[in-house]
Amino acid sequence: MGALPARVRIVEVGPRDGLQNERVALSIDDRLALIAKLVDAGLVDIEAGAFVSPKRVPNMAGSGELMKRLPRSSGVSYPCLVPNDTGLDAALEAGCRDIAVFAAVSETFSQRNTACSIAESMERLRAVARRALDSNVRMRGYLSCVIGCPYEGPIAAGIVADMALQLIDMGCHEVSLGDTTGIGTPEQIRRLIDAVSVRVPVHRLAGHFHDTWGMGVANVYAALQSGVTVFDASVGGLGGCPFAPGASGNVATEDVVYMLEGAGVVTGVDLGKLVGAARWVSDRLDRQVASRVARAYRTE
Ligand code: HMG
Ligand code: MG
Repeated sequence: MGALPARVRIVEVGPRDGLQNERVALSIDDRLALIAKLVDAGLVDIEAGAFVSPKRVPNMAGSGELMKRLPRSSGVSYPCLVPNDTGLDAALEAGCRDIAVFAAVSETFSQRNTACSIAESMERLRAVARRALDSNVRMRGYLSCVIGCPYEGPIAAGIVADMALQLIDMGCHEVSLGDTTGIGTPEQIRRLIDAVSVRVPVHRLAGHFHDTWGMGVANVYAALQSGVTVFDASVGGLGGCPFAPGASGNVATEDVVYMLEGAGVVTGVDLGKLVGAARWVSDRLDRQVASRVARAYRTE
């Protein structure tokens, strides 16, 4: 267990993971307004949308229009999910310079999420990767169900390590390890990072923790102690995958920022502005703000 890093990079996934499973679908104007608030709060990696089937994930429809209308701020990247060649065509047409490809370490989840086996999904992603890299598009990778699968139960760390390496070998600059249903505990996360970092350098791993069981912030801290310095989080604690029954929101960005800044780790994020964004988007979604920090934070 080493010293904590001086700084971490937060990948804000609210406009994608956060919104994809909400009862209320935000308009493109509201999705753009949310992204603008996140930029204003100091976030520089903002997952903006997904080029997936609008029949399967209706809330992400219009991601092409969103990307075309999005004012680009210098130094800010706006990755979008791309599952296949069709998605890459649309992402390139919309001017995306960053994409995120995704696969699962469980066969059943792979079928439910992407309608194909693990092997087929990796073939699809290899084809996407070749074209993306030819077009100088940066690519991050995701693995889902890294601790356990809602359909198959516990997952062995070896398969996570093996697939993470495959994503790096196909050209991903980093691999985000998704605890899709938020069942992991800090000790399990620590063991997972130890196992995966034998195959993939820890500086190329990111933590993507859902907070279903209330372990999100603790899991970020455990991964931090194991050397991970990139964390995905969602404003207001929004989020969840439509194909992972029972999964609730991602760990809230404001909870992560509060914890990290309290440990002396720089995030570059203005907590007050972030809380403002969390309250604003929760209001637009007609729901209570989910995160502890946004509820506790006093502006006066
Ligand atoms: P498919 O193999 O064509 O099969 O798509 P399908 O039956 O699922 O979908 C068929 C329809 O989608 C067809 O249209 C295709 O043309 C169309 P139809 O003939 O019915 O009119 N289609 C597309 N449309 C738009 N964009 C595309 C595209 N591709 C096919 N790119 C596919 C496979 C993966 C695209 C589909 O199953 C799909 O979109 N699934 C949704 C995946 C998704 O967005 N899941 C949630 C995000 S992943 C996640 O949340 C986990 C993560 O956060 C990490 C973690 O927490 O673990 C990243
Ligand atoms: Mg997720």
